[in-house]
Amino acid sequence: MPVITEIEDLKRLYRRRVPKMFYDYCESGSWSEQTFRENVSDFDEIYLRQRVAIDMTERSTKTQMIGQDAAMPLALAPVGLTGMQHADGEILAARAAEKFGVPFCLSTMSICSIEDVAEHTSKPFWMQVYTLKDDDYMQRLFDRAKDAKCSAAVITVDLQLLGQRHKDIRNGLSAPPKLTPKSVANMMTKIPWGLEMLQTKRRFFGNIVGHAKGVTDASSLTTWTAESFDQALDWDRIRQFRKMWDGPLIIKGIMDPRDALEACNVGADAIVVSNHGGRQLDGALSSIRALAPILDAVGDRIEVHLDSGIRSGQDVLKAVAMGAKGCWAGRAYIYGLGAMGEAGVSEALRVIHKELDTSMALCGRTDITGVDRDILMIPKGFSGEWEE
Ligand SMILES: Cc1cc2nc3c(=O)[nH]c(=O)nc-3n(C[C@H](O)[C@H](O)[C@H](O)COP(=O)(O)O)c2cc1C
Repeated sequence: MPVITEIEDLKRLYRRRVPKMFYDYCESGSWSEQTFRENVSDFDEIYLRQRVAIDMTERSTKTQMIGQDAAMPLALAPVGLTGMQHADGEILAARAAEKFGVPFCLSTMSICSIEDVAEHTSKPFWMQVYTLKDDDYMQRLFDRAKDAKCSAAVITVDLQLLGQRHKDIRNGLSAPPKLTPKSVANMMTKIPWGLEMLQTKRRFFGNIVGHAKGVTDASSLTTWTAESFDQALDWDRIRQFRKMWDGPLIIKGIMDPRDALEACNVGADAIVVSNHGGRQLDGALSSIRALAPILDAVGDRIEVHLDSGIRSGQDVLKAVAMGAKGCWAGRAYIYGLGAMGEAGVSEALRVIHKELDTSMALCGRTDITGVDRDILMIPKGFSGEWEE
């Protein structure tokens, strides 16, 4: 196995192994990609306070997210088309998460279906649902998640319509992908990826085809996707979803304290401060800048998680020290998956855990559940002082 010292190493291997259209699909944000970039770079604005001569021998990164044990405060975020980054990708990522002891969240737009992932793993995972118009489909999705013993539902609220990602348009990446001569030529150079894809039967949206009314093939999927996302979504509609699912509920995609309050009012158990990894509203603040005002507004009422921009254990440490109960990583584990399958996801988790553990110790702390803002040096005005 190549030497992996940081997530960037996995990204380099991933880029070489996976067809450009899927690499670009992952490694892109909407429009100018400002938010995509700042999600990562804003973490560098926060400094860690070094402390010395404090006994660091007994350390723990163990915590809980929505009352469920986690080996560190990190979950694998829902990522659509994961099974195109590596054959059977969702199953492999879920297995790596299970072995490491962190939560895995399956996307509605996954290649492997809920039932398939449940059959090939032994611990419950979380199920992400998009807010679609079709009530029967939604009810069935929640029921299927329940039958598969999913331990939480995650409602993503920031995708009523799709933020435009230029690279996907150029590459013909839509649902389903439209293959251009250029992308076919590039795919043919990715031989190990292609051979593995040929050997799996999982190559289509497993939660949709055969489950959504009238979706039986590629062309009906295009129509369904275009018509299904619900631009009329409001908090009353989210209350209806709350009634369809009686288990733990997480609302993902909150960037404003007012929306965080609404999420508390619909009876969610946790929110994820997230701008979808910079893939939706370009020009939105980075998640790490948005975190503190949201914690001030609802931190005593609901568990607050953060995603978008997590590329290292230090990022996790900073977000948790600010007050997040846990973080979610999307691209960081997809790089690992694309690079080396399940072993690559395990590597991503190992790297992040080591960075978290070592950095926590060098800040003079030994228990992740006790870290607080005292270990951070946050620039004045980090969360912004804006004109009314
Ligand atoms: C390729 C890709 C596909 C994604 N698909 C979904 C999805 O299907 N559902 C969802 O709620 N979020 C989706 N997301 C957003 C992630 O769940 C998460 O919010 C984001 O990746 C966090 O940012 P990070 O990649 O910088 O860690 C996707 C992100 C990426 C990169």
